[in-house]
Amino acid sequence: MEQKREKFSSSLAVFLATLSSAVGLGNIWMFPYITGENGGAAFIIIYLICVALVGLPVLISEFIIGRGTRRNVHGAISKITNKNRFKIISVFAILATYFMLSFYTVVVGWVYSYLYKAVIGALKGVTSETTSILFYNTSVGPIAPIIWQMIALLVGGTILVLGVKGGIEKLTKTLMPVLILLLGICAFRSLTLAGAMEGINFLIKPDFSKVHIGVVLSALGLAFFKLSVGSGAMITYSSYYTDDNNLIGTAGKVAISDTLVSLTAGLAIFPAAFSFGLEPSSGPGLLFNTVPLIFAKMPGGWVLSIIFFVLAAMAATMSMISLLEVLIVVFTEELKMERKKAIIMNVIIIALVGSLAALSGNPNGILGNKLVFGLTFFDLFDTLVSKILLPINGLLIILLTGYFINKKYLTDQLSNNGILNNELTIKTLIFIMKYISPILIIIVFLKSFI
Ligand code: PFF
Repeated sequence: MEQKREKFSSSLAVFLATLSSAVGLGNIWMFPYITGENGGAAFIIIYLICVALVGLPVLISEFIIGRGTRRNVHGAISKITNKNRFKIISVFAILATYFMLSFYTVVVGWVYSYLYKAVIGALKGVTSETTSILFYNTSVGPIAPIIWQMIALLVGGTILVLGVKGGIEKLTKTLMPVLILLLGICAFRSLTLAGAMEGINFLIKPDFSKVHIGVVLSALGLAFFKLSVGSGAMITYSSYYTDDNNLIGTAGKVAISDTLVSLTAGLAIFPAAFSFGLEPSSGPGLLFNTVPLIFAKMPGGWVLSIIFFVLAAMAATMSMISLLEVLIVVFTEELKMERKKAIIMNVIIIALVGSLAALSGNPNGILGNKLVFGLTFFDLFDTLVSKILLPINGLLIILLTGYFINKKYLTDQLSNNGILNNELTIKTLIFIMKYISPILIIIVFLKSFI
C-alpha cells in the first residue's frame, strides 16, 4: 500500500531544510580541525575542488533519485535500479547512517554539555591550562559522555515525532537564519583579537608541502560528509521536495552556502587559536579547547559563549535529525512500522552502538585504549564512514546516475519536464557525472589504499 507522504511547503523550506542537514558539526568542528591537521589553505583549495567536481554532482544525483521516486533510501534505490546490483547502495547508506550517528551523537552531546557549562558560568575565567581539563571532564568517564549522548538522541527523537512539516520544516526555517547571524558575530569577535592575522594567513596562504594523497582522501571524505551525501539523507529529504523545485539550483545554493559557513567557522576558530597559542592541529578537541578561551576574557564574553554553543547545538541537532530521518522512513515505509515506534527503536539501537563511541571519543576514555584495526571505536566509526562507506557509495551513486538511469528521465528531472531552460547546464553536468567525478573518486581511493 502506498504511504501518504508529506512534502515541504515551498522552495525556501526546501532550501533551508537541505542546508540544515549539510550545515552541522562538519562545519564548526570537523572542517576547522581537519584543515588544521592538514596545513590550512592548501587543504581548503583541494576541498573546494572535491566539492565542485564530486560532492555537488553526487548531491544532484541524490536529488534526482529522491524526488524522482519519493521513497525512503531503500525503496528509492530499489525503484530506480529496478532491483539490479546497485541495490547495495541502500545497504551501504543505512550502515553509514548507523555508524555516523553512533559517533555524531557523541559530539552533539559534547556540544550540549558545553552549552550547559556556558549557561551556568563554568566557562568563565577559563585559561589555556584549564580549558583541556574541561574537555577531559566532558569526554572522559563512564557517565558524562553517555548521558549527554542520550540527551542528544532524545532531543532528536522528540523533534522527529512532530513529522516533516511540523518538525523538520518548522525548526529549520526558524533556526537557520539565526544560526548564520550568530556565526557571523563569533567570526567578527575572533577576527578582532590581537594576533588574529596569523590565523587568517593560515587560512589563505597555501603550503602544498604537507599535501599527499591521504590529505586528498580526507578532503574527499569531508566533501561527502559536509554535503550529507552517500548516507541517504539527501535522498530522503529530496523525497519531500516540491515538484517545481530546481534541483541543480538548490544543490548549487546549498553547496555554496555550506562552504561559506565552513569558511566563516574557520574565521571564528583559527585567529583565536593562534591568538591564544593553541596548536591548530590539535584534533577533535580543537573547537572545545579554543572557543571557551575566545570568550573568557572579553567583556560580554559570557553571553557570547552561550550564543556560540546555542548555535553549535542547533546546527548539530538539525544534521542529526536528517540522519535519523533516513532510518525512520526506512522503518515506516519498508517495515510498515508506526513512526513513533520506529523512532524509539532507532534511538535505542544508536544508544547501544553509540556508547562504544561515547566511551572512546577521548583517548583517555574508558574504552580509549581498546583498539580495533589500530583505531578506537570512535575513530573506527568515523574512518569507516568518511573514508570508506561514503566515498564508495558516492561512486556507486554517480555511476548509477551517469550510466544506468535513462537519459530522458535525468533530463526531465533536472529541467522539471522541460520547464527550466537549462539544456547546456544539464549536458555539462552529465559529462562531469560520467567522466570526471567517478574517475576522481577511483584515483583518490585506489592511490590511498594501494
Ligand atoms: N553534513 C553534516 C555536517 O557537516 O555536520 C553531517 C551529516 C549529516 C552527514 C547528515 C551525513 C548526513 F547524512
